[in-house]
Amino acid sequence: MIMLNKIMNNLPITDSTSNNKEQEVILCEYCGKQRPMLVEDIPLVGKRRIHAACPCIEIREKEFKKRQERIDKKRKIKQFLRLSSSIEELKNYNFNNMKIREGMEKAYNKVIDSVNNFEKNGKIGLLIFGESGNGKTHLTASGANELLKQEYSVIFLTEKDLLSRLKETNNFNNEERFFEIMNACVRADLLIWDDFLSSQRLNQIEKDLIFQIVNGRERANKPIWFTSNLTEEEFVNSKYAKVLDDKGRTWSRIVGNTTAVYNTASDYRKLKAIARLNNQSIEEIEKGM
Ligand SMILES: Nc1ncnc2c1ncn2[C@@H]1O[C@H](COP(=O)(O)OP(=O)(O)OP(=O)(O)O)[C@@H](O)[C@H]1O
Ligand SMILES: [Mg+2]
Ligand SMILES: [Zn+2]
Repeated sequence: MIMLNKIMNNLPITDSTSNNKEQEVILCEYCGKQRPMLVEDIPLVGKRRIHAACPCIEIREKEFKKRQERIDKKRKIKQFLRLSSSIEELKNYNFNNMKIREGMEKAYNKVIDSVNNFEKNGKIGLLIFGESGNGKTHLTASGANELLKQEYSVIFLTEKDLLSRLKETNNFNNEERFFEIMNACVRADLLIWDDFLSSQRLNQIEKDLIFQIVNGRERANKPIWFTSNLTEEEFVNSKYAKVLDDKGRTWSRIVGNTTAVYNTASDYRKLKAIARLNNQSIEEIEKGM
């Protein structure tokens, strides 16, 4: 019915009795306003005043399209989130329940800055490295949650999960599932690659997939935030340049498209364990260090 109304409303209605007599007023059936008149030169007939479509139609169509885009976007966000690693835990990570501990100030500021300038930074992402347990996952997940609030699509994957998820697609043979994951990794507004280079041995297929994701995101001008247990030395020496592929193409893209920050804070997990053991608060333990 809406379609039919639309077609009828768009039809030019010529005034067949006379072109100079006073025109019949036709009201828009949607907004009730008078439909505008147009003069049209009709072949063999001559100039005629016709009723044009009401401008409200275009406005409504635009609104409809916008609404549809929002729905699609929300669906995409949900779909990508479902593919993420341990989202229940990650959901609870935010900047409010994170202490800015000594050594992590730079990394903290970089993540905040990346959230605030998300659009502007384009494909430039982050590479946060540092020792285990010092808040890299907490920090990046906090940034992710902030961006999700702003309706960006984010996929958060540990390297292990990413590779095992792809492998689970029947050894890369379940095309639909396989492309769903690859698609999410390439198309999400943000990909968080947790525990980068934690996989000891990568086979050729895995190396190719990593290249495809890294390259695909570069071409789409979309960033990746990596976290890694690499030491600064290992990073600077590019010890891993050839681990991802013999020619170093993946590595060069990663280095070129990220800002590296070293999180030098100590292991918070260990601190928590000691505090529990000694029946002290974390603050007391930190003070005594
Ligand atoms: N600055 C902090 N404030 C509050 N909690 C923190 C902070 N840093 C770490 N934690 C908590 O300590 C635990 C370990 O942190 P997280 O998992 O982020 O470390 P990580 O650097 O990612 O470690 P890994 O390299 O082993 O993956 C988490 O429970 C996290 O919430
Ligand atoms: Mg981590
Ligand atoms: Zn109207």
